[in-house]
Amino acid sequence: NKPLKVALLGCGSVGSQVVRLLTEQAGDLEARVGAPVELVGVSVRRLDAPREVDVPAGLLTTDAEALVTREDVDVVVEVIGGIEPARTLILKALESGASVVTANKALLAEDGPTLFEAASKAGRDLYYEAAVAGAIPILRPLRESLAGDRVTRVLGIVNGTTNFILDKMDTSGAGFAEALEEAQDLGYAEADPTADVEGFDAAAKAAILASLAFHTRVTAQDVYREGISEVSAADVASARDMGAVVKLLAIAELRDDQVAVRVHPAMIPRSHPLASVREAYNAVFVESEAAGQLMFYGPGAGGSPTASAVLGDLVTVGRNRLNDTTGVGESAYADRAVRPMGET
Ligand code: HSE
Repeated sequence: NKPLKVALLGCGSVGSQVVRLLTEQAGDLEARVGAPVELVGVSVRRLDAPREVDVPAGLLTTDAEALVTREDVDVVVEVIGGIEPARTLILKALESGASVVTANKALLAEDGPTLFEAASKAGRDLYYEAAVAGAIPILRPLRESLAGDRVTRVLGIVNGTTNFILDKMDTSGAGFAEALEEAQDLGYAEADPTADVEGFDAAAKAAILASLAFHTRVTAQDVYREGISEVSAADVASARDMGAVVKLLAIAELRDDQVAVRVHPAMIPRSHPLASVREAYNAVFVESEAAGQLMFYGPGAGGSPTASAVLGDLVTVGRNRLNDTTGVGESAYADRAVRPMGET
């Protein structure tokens, strides 16, 4: 079969692991996709920046737009993050006939419907398993495996940085500032940690989880959000005295056919499975009518785990192409008239 030609946007910690896996797993990927998977270009901001992997000569370019509109590109993998230029590039890729795999939670949570409509109109795939909880397979289970069930509640620890900070405060008695500094030293938190500690990153992921769990449309603006910067050592200590632990939870619930989504620090009993989620790990706890309670657990961030989810999506896109089908990643979406609370 004809090779599946892949263009990669971004070669940071996730992008470089995508390059590594595409190279190291080439044989397995070819067997699973039914065709060779060929990297045809990698767009970067600076050609001479230091990178975790050696990108084959001639593949690097600073012209992302030219790369995504190339006629021979089958799939564009977007791992640059942020709203622009990611949105414009994804839309151009779809218009030019490529499918898209993205890890961009902020963009999906802010403007998902625009992307889904563009994919649908183009008859191309749009997959984004890596956007929520890194390596943990959670979006496919919500969209597909549980599609015959009725999910009633999703509780997630979906931000590794804040879980690391709260865990540190719990185990060592450290205050927020001290724990944040350690998270930064270890490379978990960004130099500007606002998106993590104020709950924006978790709110974006909560919107995506709620959309798939309840087959409706939820954007980041529909999510009530409170971060962890006001959580004190005393709060954590009194939770401990009560046999509880403080976690930043993303909570999505279906009540009377309305969806309520919120992100805030919460005390949970130490006996709850989510209490055992330590350090920068993530977990998503799902309650549904028929299945009961399920928990998905694993590394929620980092280059290699996130790249694992990206590669899984790439294999799906490759298989869809061979079967002449598209799984817009989206078919079960927006088929119910549930509305986020507060929306009229
Ligand atoms: N900053 C995010 C986290 C990275 O800490 O979980 C993964 O989205």
